[in-house]
Amino acid sequence: MKHKIGLAAALRSLVQILRGRAHVSASLTENALLQTILRRRSVRSFRSQEIPDDVFAAILEAGRLAPSTVNLQTWSFAVFDAALWRQTFDRRLPFGGQRAVIVIADTHRVRQVLDVFPYSPLVEHTVAVMNASLAAMNMTIAAEALGVSSVMLSESGRSGLLDGGYLRQRLGLPPTTTPLMTIVFGYARRAYPPMPPKLPAEQIFFSGRYPPVNEAVMQSWLTQMVAGYKASHPLSSFDRQLQIYRDKIEQAEADLQAAVFYRPESTRHAPRC
Ligand SMILES: Cc1cc2nc3c(=O)[nH]c(=O)nc-3n(C[C@H](O)[C@H](O)[C@H](O)COP(=O)(O)O)c2cc1C
Repeated sequence: MKHKIGLAAALRSLVQILRGRAHVSASLTENALLQTILRRRSVRSFRSQEIPDDVFAAILEAGRLAPSTVNLQTWSFAVFDAALWRQTFDRRLPFGGQRAVIVIADTHRVRQVLDVFPYSPLVEHTVAVMNASLAAMNMTIAAEALGVSSVMLSESGRSGLLDGGYLRQRLGLPPTTTPLMTIVFGYARRAYPPMPPKLPAEQIFFSGRYPPVNEAVMQSWLTQMVAGYKASHPLSSFDRQLQIYRDKIEQAEADLQAAVFYRPESTRHAPRC
């Protein structure tokens, strides 16, 4: 399906995007942590300024101490500075970032001492993805609190979920590990971009039973997404970007299936009845 919009709709959408803001009671806006969470934006252009070692170490520590299911800590983090990234991947860190972390859902380590999910690969994988993603979010919030901006990437050439097979080989990852995303860190080159179109509260929060989808709201959101993409990438389009993702997703699906359903010889017995 092509997503073409007229000029008037595009302008209307851009105005809506520029009006987007957090809705928080005025009495709470002074709260420093809340401000940090609400201020965070994905940043895609960084200055050449280094991130001091102690600042980056604190960001990593925020990931290490994140909550996890049964405290299993089903994650690993491949840690890079700009030089190591270049050496590993033969390319620059995306967007001029100074440091990066590849966040990996990892049940390989815990499997050495505990067989928590012997017959439940999807549960095991889902739990690991959840936990590693929470750790990732902790890192980005800690970074933001320390004045360091970030962006999470599923793909940017060679760096996230959509590059799982490549990363598994390049980083020597064992079975039952899944690279999820790369977080690129750095100091923002310019003021933060406007908030991308977020769905209104009444579309996503509900009490009681799941409500019907409001198609008009969803259509308006999609139009804003298309218009916002065109405004920030005049030489490309939302559809072209989707196509790039789709082309990579097919390969990523095969890589992921192989990783999620992997079972070592010793545990390949029939499920318990
Ligand atoms: C798991 C994950 C993967 C993402 N992958 C990419 C990516 O590959 N390229 C990119 O430019 N942005 C990526 N993003 C950033 C999203 O586009 C961004 O979070 C979204 O547009 C909302 O904007 P905000 O973070 O400023 O609120 C990713 C975000 C997440 C959480």
